[in-house]
Amino acid sequence: APFRLEDYRAPAFTIDTVGLDFQLAPSATRVVATIALRPNTDEARNGRLELVGDEITLKGLKLDGATLPEGRYTATPSLLTLHDVPNRPFTLDIETLVDPAANTKLMGLYRTSGTYCTQCEAEGFRRITYFLDRPDVLAVYTTRIEAQKSDAPILLANGNPVESGDVPGTDRHFAVWHDPFPKPSYLFAMVAGDLGVITDSFTTSSGREVELRIYCEHGKEARCTYAMDALKRSMKWDEDVFGLEYDLDIFIIVAVSDFNMGAMENKGLNVFNDKYVLADPDTATDADYANVEGVIAHEYFHNWTGNRITCRDWFQLCLKEGLTVFRDQEFSSDMRSRAVKRIADVRTLQARQFPEDGGPLAHPVRPEIYHEISNFYTPTVYEKGAEVVRMLKSILGPDDFRKGMDLYVERHDGDAATIEDFLASFADATGADLTQFKLWYSQAGTPQIISRGAYDEADRTYRLTLSQSIPATPGQARKQPMHMPIRFGLIGPNGEDMEFRSVSGGRVEGDIIHLTEASQTLVFEGVGGRPVPSLLRGFSAPVRLAIDISAADLLFQVRTDADPFNRWQAAQTLAMRNLVASTTEQIAGRPAKAEPALIDALGSVLDDETLEPAFRAQVLQLPSEADIARELGQNVDPDAIAAARRELRLAISTGLGNRIERHYGSLSGAESFRPDAASAGKRALRNTLLDLLLARRSPEAIAAALAHFETANNMTDRLAALSAITQAALPERRAVLDAFYKRYQDDALVLDKWLTLEATVPASDTLDRVKALLKHPSYSPNNPNRVRALVGSFASANQTQFNRVDGAGYDFLADFALELDKRNPQTTARLLVSFRSWRALEPVRRTRAEAALRRIAAAPDLSPDTLDIVTRTLA
Ligand code: ARG
Ligand code: ZN
Repeated sequence: APFRLEDYRAPAFTIDTVGLDFQLAPSATRVVATIALRPNTDEARNGRLELVGDEITLKGLKLDGATLPEGRYTATPSLLTLHDVPNRPFTLDIETLVDPAANTKLMGLYRTSGTYCTQCEAEGFRRITYFLDRPDVLAVYTTRIEAQKSDAPILLANGNPVESGDVPGTDRHFAVWHDPFPKPSYLFAMVAGDLGVITDSFTTSSGREVELRIYCEHGKEARCTYAMDALKRSMKWDEDVFGLEYDLDIFIIVAVSDFNMGAMENKGLNVFNDKYVLADPDTATDADYANVEGVIAHEYFHNWTGNRITCRDWFQLCLKEGLTVFRDQEFSSDMRSRAVKRIADVRTLQARQFPEDGGPLAHPVRPEIYHEISNFYTPTVYEKGAEVVRMLKSILGPDDFRKGMDLYVERHDGDAATIEDFLASFADATGADLTQFKLWYSQAGTPQIISRGAYDEADRTYRLTLSQSIPATPGQARKQPMHMPIRFGLIGPNGEDMEFRSVSGGRVEGDIIHLTEASQTLVFEGVGGRPVPSLLRGFSAPVRLAIDISAADLLFQVRTDADPFNRWQAAQTLAMRNLVASTTEQIAGRPAKAEPALIDALGSVLDDETLEPAFRAQVLQLPSEADIARELGQNVDPDAIAAARRELRLAISTGLGNRIERHYGSLSGAESFRPDAASAGKRALRNTLLDLLLARRSPEAIAAALAHFETANNMTDRLAALSAITQAALPERRAVLDAFYKRYQDDALVLDKWLTLEATVPASDTLDRVKALLKHPSYSPNNPNRVRALVGSFASANQTQFNRVDGAGYDFLADFALELDKRNPQTTARLLVSFRSWRALEPVRRTRAEAALRRIAAAPDLSPDTLDIVTRTLA
């Protein structure tokens, strides 16, 4: 049966303290949990206590120190029921047996490269002991870990270290950790193994000395220094920007190689997928550095938004995730270029969240029903959740936003809170009415805004009509208008924003239009010339905007808009119009041609040396094949899209002529690598130009790409050349891919890049290559990073080959998923999200995709994760 938000009930019992004692052994770890329970609601009076488990074995049970006779409880691997517990505080000692070595789901206690490690969010703690495994049960944890010294010299848990030593007369040792901050079970963590470490320290604003440690595989310590630097900058930034200080004596990060997701914010002991910790110039790209910085910040920021204030139930996931993504985005914006960061974030939102919101898996930012919570760690909860917080800040303004945050922290520190609590803090701190705004949390679907403008020269008035509509989504046929902050400017004939005397027809404050009705006409008086409207500056609301604007006005906007985001957006709109038209032409058998306005727009940005290189690179990157498919929305033919895009890129490359070579030549690739944003931006521009040059497939361009690869002194440039060559599906690709493999054959994280390059070649032999690579010694079916690099990128980033018209791509993914589902359901369910837009395909592919989905759905013994995704995808 599904879980529903409306069914929330406080727990009948709660837990105040937890003592955990781990006797570690690879296949038979004994856990004794000593938990202090007390009745919490009237429901406790019936004396029935249910503690959930998952694939664990009960070995012993005591109540207040006395062994319980058999008749007073029943135990299965998934449930421990006590039939008549007292109606007063009492203690249980629960002994369980777990098998970390056999744990391929990577939830609960498992082994990764010989290290013991835990992942408890969302429902993994129940794989360690029977518990009230829900986020509104907050307890103080003390953890004792005992292990063989040689096997696990390092013993870590949440909180502060309190005691450690040898176990006399044995080859074992122990450590005790105590976390004074009450927390839900999903934030518990324990790590034990033989690990390398780097250490540092941070002094908080109030003078607390905090020891910082990052653990990794031996030999990789030098690759952790950037992460350490990012951690210290995050700690400082959260003090400066939000007034939030760290609270324990020690903060630990552990990098592990087998991890289902990106990272986990366990109190004082963050566990990371190593790809978000390790970075050095020879193995990490600029994008990797940016990801490390962002994820380190994200997990650190959870210490307040997630840990000190946690979620009442899993429906509230966006309370911590949306807010924390917003915070990490702001951090990265302050560390780097705000405009470029915003463009990158919006690109991700449009590529990942928009298709989710427009397909069968659409759900509100705060879902109201779920079968399997693991499937709700989604772009909607995270990225759209962050957009909702960003809109709140736009609506309130920065000062009132900060007042609301301060009140939220003051009121709810130590609480398991809700979205209602969050919004009430902002409303109470500022007097704002957020009733309508709250609909953003409950209405799914990407709103569409249609804008029409007309200038009356005689009256000097500009009338702007904005209409909003929200498409139907699963379970939500009809929607109400929402409160949308539309940041805007009226660009005058000289390219500067125009003043106006007054405005009527709606609330306009500063540069924000508060769109609240289904349709509103704003009348701006005293406007001294026909304006070009610049709407949704900085992408101030997560909507699709359809604007009646000519190509000439878009070109003008690219050249003049005071908002860099909208300069980029205007260029993208020009390009998208051209790409959509070219796709239609392609289907009719006619060649694509580049619009002069588009060439002019791209050329003027390319040549404008006053603009940051990273920004110019973003403008020169055309919408992706998937972006075009989404824009078309139906009857999608990925081959036609790819052909149109390829031809248009050639036309652009030719149209820009030798300006590409000139700018490419003027950007040196020889300087030594520094990971800062300005240096990265220059590389991004140079690498984008190489890619555009290679659209010509001329001998000169191919020679340039090969030389770029050979002479690169860092991974960013090397990978950019490789990617340009493989994306162009040049015959030369085999030799460079092999050379790259040889060079990095012992480096798993770099080989992930190689697997991805192999899997994303747009050529008809790629599927066979992917199948062959499944047997390659560098591939491992049990490591989620390997699986995502090879199979995940084939299914999500190779539009033409995954969507082969013969259906072989779909069949392959179905076969693969059925096999993987037996071992790792979470990763399987995520891979299958690649089917989410199957209904938008042209009929032949649609039929084949549906058949593959139905075949999965019909298989026996599907995991709840996979069953949930395929059922919803087909519904
Ligand atoms: N809270 C983590 C983060 O966003 C995500 C962990 C989710 N893990 C999972 N297995 N569902 O930082
Ligand atoms: Zn998070």
